[in-house]
Amino acid sequence: MHKSVPLLIVTLILAACGREQAPPVRPESPAAQADAAAGRVVAEAKCSNCHGLDGRGTEPLIPHLAGQKLEYLQLALREYRSGERTHAALRQLFSELSETDLNNVAAFYAGLPAIAPAGGTAAQATTADAMAAGRSAAAACAACHGADGNAVMPGMPSLAGQHRDYLVAALQSYKDGTRKHAVMNVQMSAVDAVTLQNLATYYAAQPVRTQDRKATGDTVAGERLSAGCGGCHGLRGQTLDAHTPALAGQDPQYLVTSMKAYRDGSRRHEEMKALLIPMSETQLGHIGAYYAAQSLRQDQAPATLTAREWAERCDRCHGTGTENPTMVVPRIEGQHSEYLAHVLRDYRDGKRHQSTMHAMGMPLTDADIEAIAEHYAALPPR
Ligand code: HEC
Ligand code: HEC
Ligand code: HEC
Ligand code: HEC
Repeated sequence: MHKSVPLLIVTLILAACGREQAPPVRPESPAAQADAAAGRVVAEAKCSNCHGLDGRGTEPLIPHLAGQKLEYLQLALREYRSGERTHAALRQLFSELSETDLNNVAAFYAGLPAIAPAGGTAAQATTADAMAAGRSAAAACAACHGADGNAVMPGMPSLAGQHRDYLVAALQSYKDGTRKHAVMNVQMSAVDAVTLQNLATYYAAQPVRTQDRKATGDTVAGERLSAGCGGCHGLRGQTLDAHTPALAGQDPQYLVTSMKAYRDGSRRHEEMKALLIPMSETQLGHIGAYYAAQSLRQDQAPATLTAREWAERCDRCHGTGTENPTMVVPRIEGQHSEYLAHVLRDYRDGKRHQSTMHAMGMPLTDADIEAIAEHYAALPPR
């Protein structure tokens, strides 16, 4: 529990009592007497280089303050000052502010009109929308991966029925260059975070077509050689873990290329490297043939959430009409997406301490975070 919570409960109870008689009365607190005009003078001298006099963050990692809730601004300032939120320069700056200046400058920024989003479209996608958007984005990929993700060209990986989380991670790693492949790096460079999620949602849900793959290897030998692989890739390549790709029914030539990539280290995975180093090219061919001959069963777990679906959970606290008297919940719409993504990673990774947000952030992948950040950044202030 935060130390300012009792005060807040009292002020909110007072506010609630006031409401019964008609015009809502500002609670009696230092903030009630705050002087926004005096706060503007402080802001001009000490904050405007970074937060502007209109409350707009001047850099992607500097948050907008305009129209933010007063209580949240005060809380944040005190937390930087006490070191609870770590930022050496801000800690120094805010400890130079008197209590009056602090309340005044918070009142000044809280009173400014909120910044409208820079543009761009909110990711208002439900799973159905995501599927439709993913299908249309996948047109650009069809020549190589097939319209429905069932690739027919030798050497091309099939994507249909692969776990969504694996696809998201694979696409993300091409986009940020951690997985190197000239064609795929170019393909993904133009794809934004939301489209990336939509593509993964689409391919994961496509039915797998059994194909008569032409493989030269010996499937019986391949089965024997794959003994060390089932622990992660499942029986006959039917992976159950969402982050491990299914191998069943995959193109045999692609399987061999990938195994070589792990063996020579161009795709990094220590356990696989150790297992594959002793194997000859012929043996890799056997394994490829074995997995290619299996048919992938589709008992897909439902796709993980879209940005919109996440936001429905976030809006239990961050939405309108959900004031919770025991918590000071900031407004997050229209904030810089870079700042939002940075903060969410900090909560998830325990670098910014707040137990609720840490719990919320726990299951989020980097790709989820990017998509959620873009979603909120594009929403108009409410
Ligand atoms: C040198 C640039 C700089 C100056 C000057 C500066 N800030 Fe900031 N401010 C930042 C950055 C960067 C962050 C985000 C830090 C983080 O990630 O925790 C921030 C965060 C904040 C936050 C937290 C907002 C949120 O959404 O959580 C508040 C409130 C704030 N600043 C108020 C002020 C006030 C008031 C002043 C003047 C007294 C000021 N800042 C001066 C750069 C600055
Ligand atoms: C010109 C052909 C081509 C096009 C177009 C193309 N890809 Fe690929 N894709 C490949 C090849 C080749 C690989 C294997 C690369 C490797 O070994 O890393 C691949 C790999 C992938 C993988 C990784 C599969 C796995 O099992 O790890 C995904 C996911 C993927 N592509 C998605 C896409 C999407 C989405 C698009 C469209 C935006 C696209 N690709 C467009 C050729 C293409
Ligand atoms: C410790 C768990 C583990 C073991 C054991 C393991 N794998 Fe993997 N495998 C993974 C993971 C995780 C990935 C995805 C890694 C990545 O993103 O590059 C993967 C990826 C692959 C891929 C690439 C598939 C694609 O769609 O791009 C192939 C092929 C593969 N493994 C084959 C094997 C074979 C063959 C063995 C046994 C000799 C094996 N693996 C053993 C965890 C494992
Ligand atoms: C149970 C209530 C609750 C839920 C659910 C919740 N939050 Fe929060 N959130 C908070 C509180 C309280 C804070 C203020 C914490 C602090 O002071 O660090 C906060 C802070 C934040 C901030 C920091 C804002 C800033 O200006 O620095 C972001 C970003 C955020 N939440 C995003 C989210 C997202 C995205 C989700 C859904 C994945 C979510 N929250 C779900 C209560 C919640």
